Amino acid sequence: MDVDRRTLLLATAAVALSPALTATASTGDPVSRMTLEEKVSLLHGATDPASLGQAGYLPGVPRLGIPEVRLTDGPAGIRVTRPATALPAPVALAATFDPATARDYGRVLGEEGRSLGQDVLLAPMTNIVRVPQAGRNFETLGEDPLLAGELVAAEVRGIQEAGLIATVKHYAANNFENGRQTVSADVDERTLREIYLPAFEAAVRAGAGAVMASYNRVNGVYASENAHLLTEILRGDWGFRGFVMSDWGATHSTEAILAGLDMEMPSGTYFAALVTAVREGRIPESVVDTAARRVVTQLRRFGTPKTRPPLDRAGHARAARRFAAAGAVLLRNENAVLPLTGLRSVAVIGPTARSPLVGGGGSAHVVPEYAESPLDALARRAGRPLPYAPGVDLDGVPVPASALSTGTIDFTGSAALPAGTTRTWTGTLTAPETGDYDLRIQGSGAVQSFQGGISLTLDGTRIGSVGAIFGGNSRLLATGDGLGNAGTVVHLEAGQPHQFTITATGAADTPLQVRLAWVTPARRQQALDEAVALARSARTVLLFAFNEGTEGQDRPGLALPDNQDPVVAAVAAANSRTVVVLNTGDPVTMPWLDRTAAVLQMWYPGQEGADATAALLLGEANPGGKLPVTYPKREADAPTAPPERYPGVNGHARYSEGIFVGYRHYDAHHVEPLFSFGHGLSYTRFHYSDLSVHGRQVEFLLRNTGDRAGAEVAQVYLGPPASAPVPMARQLAAFARVELRPGESRRIRLELPGRALSYWSGGWRVVPGDREVQVGSSSRDIRLNRTVFVH
Ligand code: NOJ
Repeated sequence: MDVDRRTLLLATAAVALSPALTATASTGDPVSRMTLEEKVSLLHGATDPASLGQAGYLPGVPRLGIPEVRLTDGPAGIRVTRPATALPAPVALAATFDPATARDYGRVLGEEGRSLGQDVLLAPMTNIVRVPQAGRNFETLGEDPLLAGELVAAEVRGIQEAGLIATVKHYAANNFENGRQTVSADVDERTLREIYLPAFEAAVRAGAGAVMASYNRVNGVYASENAHLLTEILRGDWGFRGFVMSDWGATHSTEAILAGLDMEMPSGTYFAALVTAVREGRIPESVVDTAARRVVTQLRRFGTPKTRPPLDRAGHARAARRFAAAGAVLLRNENAVLPLTGLRSVAVIGPTARSPLVGGGGSAHVVPEYAESPLDALARRAGRPLPYAPGVDLDGVPVPASALSTGTIDFTGSAALPAGTTRTWTGTLTAPETGDYDLRIQGSGAVQSFQGGISLTLDGTRIGSVGAIFGGNSRLLATGDGLGNAGTVVHLEAGQPHQFTITATGAADTPLQVRLAWVTPARRQQALDEAVALARSARTVLLFAFNEGTEGQDRPGLALPDNQDPVVAAVAAANSRTVVVLNTGDPVTMPWLDRTAAVLQMWYPGQEGADATAALLLGEANPGGKLPVTYPKREADAPTAPPERYPGVNGHARYSEGIFVGYRHYDAHHVEPLFSFGHGLSYTRFHYSDLSVHGRQVEFLLRNTGDRAGAEVAQVYLGPPASAPVPMARQLAAFARVELRPGESRRIRLELPGRALSYWSGGWRVVPGDREVQVGSSSRDIRLNRTVFVH
């Protein structure tokens, strides 16, 4: 950080010290009794002497009764070494459109974190979904600021009621993964205030104790040292009284404290130097005092000493099951093929039917308590195994000795190597026929490492690493025999040798298993043929399709990975009663859609997802979720299709679409989406009538006219004014999830918030005038409307 910037920040920091917080030495203020070193120890992470495997740790100041602090991921469950309840991915929570469910979801996270020895939860994440293929879309709460704001506020309340400090993240404009450590999100102030910041503001107003500053830069300045974000907006405009920590490794200077960053995580690379910076007069001690006091205030707010309730495994599992069912979205249901009336003559296809895709990857990954497969959940109901074919082969077969100079490398099962083995294999691999081979390195029992403990390279290029946290082409789905599975597709010419190296470092306590496998072009075709043959033999097909969203990398595109599209297309062509169950964290393209009978989006449904899936397919539960993100027909339709917007050019991603994010873009540019924001079908029908609008009060009657109980998310949209000083968009202004029995009706009363009538220009400016109030079942299924004068 240069000197001019530091001087400026010193001035900003002085303004930010509120009188209440600068009044030091009051009785009961432990900070005034701390040494400089003790204060600084509250401002950066340290090594936990008794780690539970969580992400962060502060030693506290025991002599003054400030306890040690453990900070844990994350948004879908508690991420420590031991198993925890794996909840459905937050995108599924967003799909419930239900703040009451968000509060319960938060409460489960809070209670569980408390039971598992944690104090601060590194969640919720509430970055707006801007790029449909961004790696972490599954972790966040959708593309609409009102929806995300209502849900995040409720979730924060739930987490904190249970006694954990909630950390809303990642502040701000951290909307994709590729280049996230350095990219600058170049976004104008109006767009920030209207689209990217409201959910953070809602979390702060709900009382969130902590905020995490993101990796990226915002308008050229790292978020972790961005005084405009951290001091002017967060503290100045919103009155935030908690503390701000950096994302892991996102601190870039000691002076970041002057911009409003209170805590460096996970270590003290820059903030440990605060001690000398204060002694040398470069940073005023009052700035350190303020930061330390913010931390202490939150710790005290949540109470010491801590009570640790016993883990309510069964209760949390029931809650996880309820959330998974509530977030499911029925995208398509031709001729009411769903719910199924039974499981006679039903065939099951697809890898995630047999290996449950519990959650996404990266820091939100949770080791589940257990996870049944959908295939087993269905078989349990059928009272017998159901016929199954993978359709796409993700496991392959061991590369045969004939293709390897080393002989087959398959040390699995009874041939596993002793615990603690470290071994390297080098040799040549030669393909028998020309084509695309999916090379796979598989194993278990390796040391835990960021890079992954078992790695394969081909001609010097890394093909995959088992267990790598980010990158490493490591799958979320285990092999059929429970091994980690990593790798990628390579084109090989017949008879041409390639140099390979495998390195494996075994952990001390478990046997090491290692296997080099591949899926040959012939095997790929055979898997497809088997699936088609099975589809022909059954009356109905349940076809599970997936993607593997993860932190650290965006998806290369919107298509289903692993050659799934041709398989879905061929199966749907072979059987007109093909029901596709999606386990994806975000939008995918569906070139086969017209041939399918139904599509049920289950997201990454958590450890109870299989049971919820089976219950929905069989009508024991009724889908009531709605899409919190728009599904485009093709990649080129997305607002971020131009490369200058995503992934950016020369390190700058220009948010030049402005407020036209998500459905606002598709509406404004008259682009027909594949599935619109707010879309979701039900096994029953809902009728809307009797709309009246008085001032900002909207009222209408909602009636369940079908023959099953079900939930409807009634949505109110507000059209833009005929003329405004800035371009405005039609937007979601209110919503309510309502459960109705067959024949039941309810009068719904909702209020249009002032923000929906306003735009930002140095403050919120209401545009009075005629506006269209639309009420409907999705953003593109409007049932009632009325033009009214609003002000
Ligand atoms: C980096 C991620 O961006 C953040 O969400 C997470 O909380 C930290 N790592 C700690 O694991």
